[in-house]
Amino acid sequence: MVKSILIGNWKMNLTAKEAVKLATEIDKLTKDCDAEIVLIPSATALNAVSDALAESHISVGAQNMHYEKEGKFTGEISGKMIKEFAKYVIIGHSERRLGFQEDNEFINKKIKAALEVGLCPILCIGEQRDDRENKNTKKVLEHELSVGLKGVTKDKVTKIIIAYEPVWAIGTTIATVAEIDEASGYIRFIIEKLYDAESAKKIKVIYGGSVNHENIGSFIHKDLVEGALVGGASLDAKEFSAICNVKNH
Ligand code: PGA
Repeated sequence: MVKSILIGNWKMNLTAKEAVKLATEIDKLTKDCDAEIVLIPSATALNAVSDALAESHISVGAQNMHYEKEGKFTGEISGKMIKEFAKYVIIGHSERRLGFQEDNEFINKKIKAALEVGLCPILCIGEQRDDRENKNTKKVLEHELSVGLKGVTKDKVTKIIIAYEPVWAIGTTIATVAEIDEASGYIRFIIEKLYDAESAKKIKVIYGGSVNHENIGSFIHKDLVEGALVGGASLDAKEFSAICNVKNH
């Protein structure tokens, strides 16, 4: 059976010491969870958290990366550097698209670079409130996918996790199950158009935006939505563990 995946994105929070404490607590509280769990600390805590979770069932990811392997890019971190500590990397989070002007072409370079070093990219896509109000959601999703995945071959595409994150639902209120289903179905439709039916079925599509332990059970159903990307609620050990431990996902 396909495992669902629950990813905690800690964003720009926690020192390395605090991150290790939280990771260790979540580890203890989720021993019986059968979903895959990924924790995504800030870059400064990657080393310490990956050491703390070396024997754990929990995997580690990074929040961002540069597409070049090395060189004159002060302040940046390459996929090769991340690979020392982590298996996953978030690419194209809306906070980077909007706050740091990352466009789809730039994101596409990172996706290809991540795959090249063997990282599993979590590609975030999703419409803004205006897009939804103007009935442009599908257009936005199609554009973000077709440019974001340009040049990614069929043998690699299913290594990517697509996170549907409507920007208006982040840190506010969750989208409705109908909205999540419609967008996730459409994402699979686009993958089928760009690749084939097998890839569309196999690729993992997850949802993110105001997920908590009360709503997690409502929208995950494995043929369409296979997990969640969790922000705020992943900063609390009990709450995130409760999300992971909800049966039926
Ligand atoms: P949230 O964040 O769970 O706090 O809404 C989700 C995200 O930004 O990935």
